[in-house]
Amino acid sequence: MEKLIIEGGRPLEGRIRVSGSKNAALPILLASLAVDGPVTYTNVPNLRDINTTLRLLDILGCGTTFENGTVTVTPGTLVPEAPYELVKTMRASVLCLGPLLARLCEARVSLPGGCAIGSRPVDLHLKALEKMGATFDLEQGYIHGTCDGRLRGAHIQFDFPTVGGTENLLMAAALAEGETVLVNAAREPEVVDLANFLCACGAKITGQGTSIITIEGVERLSGCEYRIMPDRIEAGTYLCAAAITDGELLLEDCPMFELEAVIAKLREMGVYIEEKGDVVVARRNGGGVHGVDVVTLPFPGFPTDMQAQIMALMCLSQGSGMIKETIFENRFMHVQELSRMGAHITLDGRTAMVRGVDSLIGAPVMASDLRASASLVLAGLAAKGSTEVQRIYHLDRGYENIEHKLEGVGARITRARD
Ligand code: EPZ
Repeated sequence: MEKLIIEGGRPLEGRIRVSGSKNAALPILLASLAVDGPVTYTNVPNLRDINTTLRLLDILGCGTTFENGTVTVTPGTLVPEAPYELVKTMRASVLCLGPLLARLCEARVSLPGGCAIGSRPVDLHLKALEKMGATFDLEQGYIHGTCDGRLRGAHIQFDFPTVGGTENLLMAAALAEGETVLVNAAREPEVVDLANFLCACGAKITGQGTSIITIEGVERLSGCEYRIMPDRIEAGTYLCAAAITDGELLLEDCPMFELEAVIAKLREMGVYIEEKGDVVVARRNGGGVHGVDVVTLPFPGFPTDMQAQIMALMCLSQGSGMIKETIFENRFMHVQELSRMGAHITLDGRTAMVRGVDSLIGAPVMASDLRASASLVLAGLAAKGSTEVQRIYHLDRGYENIEHKLEGVGARITRARD
């Protein structure tokens, strides 16, 4: 397995270009299953999960190419089964349920296992698709969905504003008979990007970005060209990198609006963040950073995907801060590892109390999930001495060229084999 070796204590200075969004690209690429013409995507990040998604599209019958950030997907004769070997490596594969049911009236997808951060059920996806006429059986760990003829539009109230559930239903409803209304829909920017992609293919969707989305089903969707939005979580991670190393970073293609909750919190901590021409500048505001309280919430609240990263920054703040994780039941796997570097964090259920320390000490640490890995890299960049972040295959799922981007702004970071 591979690891990153980081010599900490060097302020990061320079420009970083934010890559395309992993969490927008995954559903948008799978949405090509609902499209009966060739699609060209640009600004696609070169990530493990993207390559896994392209392999899944190949298995499902599409032709795909991926070169220099551009992906083409050409529809072929679709087959309805997403195999366990692949789904177990990427739970977002469950997002092929909606488009396959819409196109083939059948889908057989391995039930995505849980992961380090939680059980990750898909009950809300299935309940909503059943309201559109699908029926599901569980067969040897596979969800087997079928529908008699075309899915029917329905009025759907989500118990929770599930991102994946909203995305699956957008793709299913785009080709359903009649109107579908999603109430308590997810408002995340990546959901909006998916809806905008579907509209570019001819879907009739309104209300994306609000909690009530209306979809008028159409007969078919045609191919188009589409640019994936920038990755707000990658961008937020680099904003934290500037602050934690007491440097100054200029981020290109940084989505300010989509990062409003994160930027507000970082400013509250004493981080200067301003748009200047075509970049967003981030640095400390002249002093140290101080602890604040954070509660993760569905968009537009503070994103759970930035919780581990802001915790790393808070470890080196003056004073204390409380972080409450309301989205996932087990998203504090980074706490033990940060503590091994000298952080003072106490856990009480879904709440972490972080008491700032003057410095962290580099150590060998273990990544457990994508955003926990990012938080350990941030801590390593600021720590005294050398930090080894092991099992960085987690990191490669969501951060394009992370060591090259960090090296380019002064970090001493190398990838090595265990
Ligand atoms: C998406 O996951 C993201 N993944 C996650 O990012 C992100 O953390 C999450 O949304 C929340 O913003 C992708 O977009 C590929 P949910 P998703 O459905 O769709 C419960 C990262 O680091 N729930 O909104 O799985 C669920 O257990 C990843 O990039 C049900 O109970 O999120 C969780 O507690 C991690 N039943 C909560 O809702 C369901 O049917 C949020 O899940 C669906 C969800």
